[in-house]
Amino acid sequence: MIIDGSDTVSIDLAVAMLLKGGLIGLPTETVYGLASDALNDDATLKIFDLKGRPVDHPLIAHVADAAAIQHFANEIPGFANNLMAKLWPGPLTLILNKNVDIANACTGGAATIALRCPAHKVAQNLLRRCQDVGIWGLAAPSANRFGRVSPTTARHVLDEFGDSLMILDGGPCAVGIESTIVDCTRGKPIVLRPGTLTLAEISHAAECVAFSSGELVQKDSLTKASSPKASGTLESHYAPNARVCLHSIQEMHERLQTGSRQNLNTDSDAILAIWARVKPLTPDKVQNFLYEIMPNNPQECAKALFAQLRAFDNQGITEIWIETPPQAPEWAGITDRLQRAAHSGTEPR
Ligand code: TXA
Ligand code: MG
Repeated sequence: MIIDGSDTVSIDLAVAMLLKGGLIGLPTETVYGLASDALNDDATLKIFDLKGRPVDHPLIAHVADAAAIQHFANEIPGFANNLMAKLWPGPLTLILNKNVDIANACTGGAATIALRCPAHKVAQNLLRRCQDVGIWGLAAPSANRFGRVSPTTARHVLDEFGDSLMILDGGPCAVGIESTIVDCTRGKPIVLRPGTLTLAEISHAAECVAFSSGELVQKDSLTKASSPKASGTLESHYAPNARVCLHSIQEMHERLQTGSRQNLNTDSDAILAIWARVKPLTPDKVQNFLYEIMPNNPQECAKALFAQLRAFDNQGITEIWIETPPQAPEWAGITDRLQRAAHSGTEPR
């Protein structure tokens, strides 16, 4: 059931659902979440069940403001306080040391917890009303089945979980890809999952140099095994039903021109869609593909990405060629999501 998130009656209904240990669909500026009372383990376990998510993949707890993190975390480093002061509310999640023996379902029993303060007006209104009744934060992963494309509209959430879930409609998400996750438990800011904030912006706000986890794996002897688990960092994730391939415009053009799709390891019977900043023209050939324009601006592109992948699936497309994004910091989050969508490995999707 989709209800209007801007209506105070809807907020009251959602709070009542959370108080009795139920789940709701929650709009944020990044993507929609599937939310429970973060300190209620029984309620939070229902999220793992509904999503089909392994219980050792911890969730993000959403709070109304920085003051509310005292209910969840302690030993906050100075650079984490700087990040919260400058970038909250917003599309930023911090990993911090968890208070003893709380939110065990949300954190998968880990000693750390992921915390985020969303800027979306409906999320803010809900979180504040929750505080009034003693709910200090909402556990919420993206509201999609494990491994699938994240939802950026209320309708997408309904398509994932059906009409029995109460979903607050907050309109299409303004950011469109998930928050940047920064680990603050290892003495310096380490970006575990890129989003729309660049490393430079994180460093500036933190007032110290931030690293990407990839950089550290190369520089230090930090191994994949010793870094915390983040399901959004599995090689295969964010996958639509259609097969996704990343190519330059030049590559697309050449393959269409010669008709040798096989050289791209693709299926010549596939129903093809192309998402690129310009249309790869093939003057002498039949244009036997669907073309949609990819925005030439990283913010607009992030906003459109997941809805476009879902739209291609709904149109019966079986193969999607997407233009490899430019190699600039502003495109890092989009490139990350596309590479995982295109990965056809054996990991869970
Ligand atoms: O924008 C977002 O972050 C959205 C909205 C709803 O807030 N949420 C979201 O949640 O993307 P989810 O569950 O799809 O991704 C949360 C990520 C996962 O990759 C999870 O493994 C990681 O956060 N995470 C949670 N707790 C962690 C921890 N203690 N240490 C390391 N990673 C953690
Ligand atoms: Mg997710």
